[in-house]
Amino acid sequence: MIAVDGELKIRKYQPADRGACRRLWRELTEWHRQIYQDPSIGGAHPEDLFDKHLEEVGADRLWVAVLGSEVVGLIGLVVKKGEAEIEPLIVSQPYRRRGVGRRLVETAVAEARRLGVSLISVKPVARNVEAIKFFHRQGFKTLGHVELILDLSGRAWKKGPKLFGCQFYF
Ligand SMILES: CC(C)(COP(=O)(O)OP(=O)(O)OC[C@H]1O[C@@H](n2cnc3c(N)ncnc32)[C@H](O)[C@@H]1OP(=O)(O)O)[C@@H](O)C(=O)NCCC(=O)NCCS
Repeated sequence: MIAVDGELKIRKYQPADRGACRRLWRELTEWHRQIYQDPSIGGAHPEDLFDKHLEEVGADRLWVAVLGSEVVGLIGLVVKKGEAEIEPLIVSQPYRRRGVGRRLVETAVAEARRLGVSLISVKPVARNVEAIKFFHRQGFKTLGHVELILDLSGRAWKKGPKLFGCQFYF
């Protein structure tokens, strides 16, 4: 692991960050492929979804974490009708558990407060236990929607958590 000290900077996205942010988006997809053991997630060029996201939400609500000259993390805040959603959030694997994600979330939350939004949501996939624990630690302790799936494909799911006494699979 790489030590993260006072050098860490969180700043707005700049066009020169595009290549690094595309790589981070790919890393986010690879994380999802790993937890679902499904190499098809995100298609052949998942990094293109970064450009699509940038086009949709604009550069103004995207921040990067920079260590030295390296972009090691990315966060976006999508604001609609007085509410906000964190999407995406990714810290490059060697830099995790060093406070980078926390600093990125603090930046997005500060911006949401400044804009006067009433709530901020985030929608991690159910199997992303690490991200759920991370967000819980950052104060995201209210459950919003719960998406339930009836899978007609016959795919095998792992035994997941219980909610209201009901056993779920994820
Ligand atoms: C989730 C993620 C952004 C966290 O970033 P990070 O830089 O590792 O997190 P931090 O080091 O800032 O952790 C902040 C706090 O959360 C806790 N935390 C972080 N990861 C955790 C984990 N896997 N399990 C339990 N707690 C965790 C830390 O212990 C820390 O606690 P502290 O406040 O007591 O120090 C990072 O793991 C990641 O990029 N994951 C893959 C992509 C992803 O899942 N993104 C979210 C999609 S919704």
